[in-house]
Amino acid sequence: MSTTAPVSQQNAPKRKKVTVRTLRAKKRRGEPITMLTAYDYPSAVAVDRAGVDVILVGDSLGMVVLGYDTTLPVTMDDMIHHCKAVARGAHYPLLVGDMPFMSYQVSVEEAVRNAGRFLQEGGMDAVKLEGGRERIETIRAIVSAGIPVMGHIGLTPQSVNQLGGFRAQGKTAAAAKRLLDDALALQDAGVFSIVLESVPGKLAALISEKLDVPTIGIGAGVGCDGQVLVFHDLLGLFDRFTPRFVKQYAQLHEVIDSALREYVDDVLSRRFPAAEHTVEMKPEEWEALQRLLGE
Ligand code: KIV
Repeated sequence: MSTTAPVSQQNAPKRKKVTVRTLRAKKRRGEPITMLTAYDYPSAVAVDRAGVDVILVGDSLGMVVLGYDTTLPVTMDDMIHHCKAVARGAHYPLLVGDMPFMSYQVSVEEAVRNAGRFLQEGGMDAVKLEGGRERIETIRAIVSAGIPVMGHIGLTPQSVNQLGGFRAQGKTAAAAKRLLDDALALQDAGVFSIVLESVPGKLAALISEKLDVPTIGIGAGVGCDGQVLVFHDLLGLFDRFTPRFVKQYAQLHEVIDSALREYVDDVLSRRFPAAEHTVEMKPEEWEALQRLLGE
């Protein structure tokens, strides 16, 4: 058996694998939880190396990796394919697989079977699914199969057609009360954490205070127990559009565009490949070849 550590673990400081208990303990201590999406091996290695607590293999991959306009076309097979790559690259964060549209809405049995695939085939530690009180029975069944579930309320992108677009939720008193009731019902059903997406900051802070399980905000202000962003948004890799709540820490699409243009120019002008990128035969072998060829 090889004793060599995986590439992503070499030279890494000693860390403990994050579990759902770690997240609860962080909430109790008032320590913010960090979460980021990742969709493939290199992004998983980078996010793991940055010391992030939770990696979400989000169905947002449909938009930022596969080029769809929404997350709706993403399938279970798409998700499992990307989860496997992330699981090969990340070892310390808690790994959460996002259940895609129609993988948990048709029946409770199908939802449990699909949730199981994320752990058995995808190498994930937990699953996430969207929705409030209408998902309680499904969540209870998945949790009782031994699979940790993360909830997701507020702007739930799989319901974009019902919501009438990607818009903030919970802005009236009645809508805010419904979100709070949903959050309490999800906690009661056994979720270990809840994503709050695009909800007013004060409401997110109130929900976070009322819950024992940690909330993870995206476009929900600083009062949540943790924060999540989409990898491509944070790095400026996806230039089609950037939601208002995203902070871009880099504009990598500009770096990539300029590197690719330089490569094309180099090939057209024969500056690449240069001598240092080229393997050569020893002179005596070259001469022997010429003799063989009678030149
Ligand atoms: O799919 C995703 O990336 C998500 C996050 C935005 C929470 O659900």
